[in-house]
Amino acid sequence: MGSPLVVDIHTHMYTPAYMSLLGSRKTVPYTYEPPSGPTRLIILSSDDDPSIPIEERGRPIDSSYLDIEVKLAFMRQHGINCSVVSLANPWLDFIEPEEAQSWAHRINDDLENACANMNNKADPESIKALHEKETLFAFGALPLTAPNTDVIVKEIQRVKTLPHMRGIVLGTSGMGKGLDDERLNPIWAALQDTDTLLFLHPHYGLPDEAFGGADATNRYGHVLPLALGFPLETTIAVTRMLLAGVFDRFPRLKILLAHSGGTLPFLAGRIESCIQHERKFVANGGDLPGPQRNVWDVLQTNIYLDAVVYGVPGLKAAVAASGNADRVLFGKVQRIFVIVSILTVSGTDHPFFPPLGDKKDGEWPSVTTNYKAIKEMFDGDTQAAHAVLGGNAARILKLK
Ligand code: URA
Ligand code: ZN
Repeated sequence: MGSPLVVDIHTHMYTPAYMSLLGSRKTVPYTYEPPSGPTRLIILSSDDDPSIPIEERGRPIDSSYLDIEVKLAFMRQHGINCSVVSLANPWLDFIEPEEAQSWAHRINDDLENACANMNNKADPESIKALHEKETLFAFGALPLTAPNTDVIVKEIQRVKTLPHMRGIVLGTSGMGKGLDDERLNPIWAALQDTDTLLFLHPHYGLPDEAFGGADATNRYGHVLPLALGFPLETTIAVTRMLLAGVFDRFPRLKILLAHSGGTLPFLAGRIESCIQHERKFVANGGDLPGPQRNVWDVLQTNIYLDAVVYGVPGLKAAVAASGNADRVLFGKVQRIFVIVSILTVSGTDHPFFPPLGDKKDGEWPSVTTNYKAIKEMFDGDTQAAHAVLGGNAARILKLK
């Protein structure tokens, strides 16, 4: 069947405009330029610890976050034909309302230009599989703190007109109160009406207390917030959308969940059972509306999952949650439906999780682990593996 088209839909960068925005700030998130070495990004409030010398605070932002040539080299090294790049967290969540629109324009234009420029000079060999010149696409960012939702809606509509844009990346805080906030209705409507895919990505994790207080990060580095805080944050955000009836009101909304949906595929049954047993919901005699559609229906209709889960059991949960019982019953037919209904794709989360120490120049274990899980999961079913590696993404994001 030849080598598959590989599309990476979970890969990040910080654009020049975004870096100048961060460089102009003195509170989190902000950057610091040390006398030597890469820029430091102080991204989390737990990073902004005055007892740590400023040149060691936060994380280094090297060229892998900034330089599109480095992205291209990473893609070639890992056999990726096409990347859909998104601005890394925390997007524009923190920005002063009156500045939100102009920064969103600049950053989204940066992304569009980066895609256009790189595609002009792409190596034709690396893009053979797409049979066209483009190898880089992007998800735009939204000015969510803008003084009124019209500004946000207009940016969704503008992004839709940019040739390399394939959706919008969004954090879980929405307009500051989470994604069950009614003020987001015009945003959901605009995304649905413009048929724009939303890439939902975590940033805030869980409160430090969940991990033993503020110094937990000092005890175990970023393991707890990244391994557990991130996936639970995504799970909570999308469950709040479900409970608030967002998918009832906007049944054609399409959402791609980062990190295989956090823990949503694993917990979907429990979430649905808790809904069925909630006395406060109208369906059970209470006076709160509660969701009309069940979580399995939403998972199979509105939600796509990436494959950034680093293991076969997680991938199995993602695939199982994206299919349904009928399909599972029908053997081979089920397999075809499952690969059509999900967007489980080989995301990398580049440039996060790089190889450390003397392995810096080699292949990225974070990427090869995901490849290995996909290979193992679809052992012998080349068609399904190829769909997950790139076919699903190319079709759903209309990459041709
Ligand atoms: N992956 C991300 O996308 N962002 C982080 O901050 C860490 C890992
Ligand atoms: Zn990511």
